[in-house]
Amino acid sequence: MKILIAYYSRTGTTKKVGDLLAQKLGFSHEVSVEEIYDTVSRAGAKGYLLSGRDAMKKRLTKLEAVKFNPAEFDLVIVGTPIWAWTLSVPVRTYLAEQKNNFKNRVAFFCTMGGSGDEKTFAEMGHIINVSPVATLALKTKEVVSDGFTDKMEKFLKEFEG
Ligand SMILES: Cc1cc2nc3c(=O)[nH]c(=O)nc-3n(C[C@H](O)[C@H](O)[C@H](O)COP(=O)(O)O)c2cc1C
Repeated sequence: MKILIAYYSRTGTTKKVGDLLAQKLGFSHEVSVEEIYDTVSRAGAKGYLLSGRDAMKKRLTKLEAVKFNPAEFDLVIVGTPIWAWTLSVPVRTYLAEQKNNFKNRVAFFCTMGGSGDEKTFAEMGHIINVSPVATLALKTKEVVSDGFTDKMEKFLKEFEG
């Protein structure tokens, strides 16, 4: 299976999950990774406030150019941090820009301090008009302490069989 893993990560948590998924799936599939980059700096306390406000208002941003076309993959796994109980602004922008290229199966994952996953996954599916075959919601704490092996295995089984 050709799999694309596309994610945005402001502080490395979502990236850790995305890269681990790529490593695991890479044993038996052809995997490409698209790290989504924002042209807007979201670093530090100022970036946190800006991001929270932008997310709440469902604003879009200007992304750096992407490398891959989701239409060329059998499965696209999209990952986002939760911002203000919804998806991050860069991932909202990515899905909005690529929505016509989501022709096959999708799966979603997110990382979060505590809550917002269900609403976020529903909104992600709504933007691209495709329901995910699997979802994985992880708390930042679980990711940092590497305590998410079981949840990740369950997620992988949902589309690998
Ligand atoms: C602007 C902003 C808003 C956030 N809002 C939420 C939230 O509503 N619910 C939640 O559980 N976590 C929230 N978080 C925490 C992040 O989702 C969490 O720390 C995530 O793992 C960060 O991922 P990253 O390291 O890949 O950027 C927020 C973080 C930021 C920066």
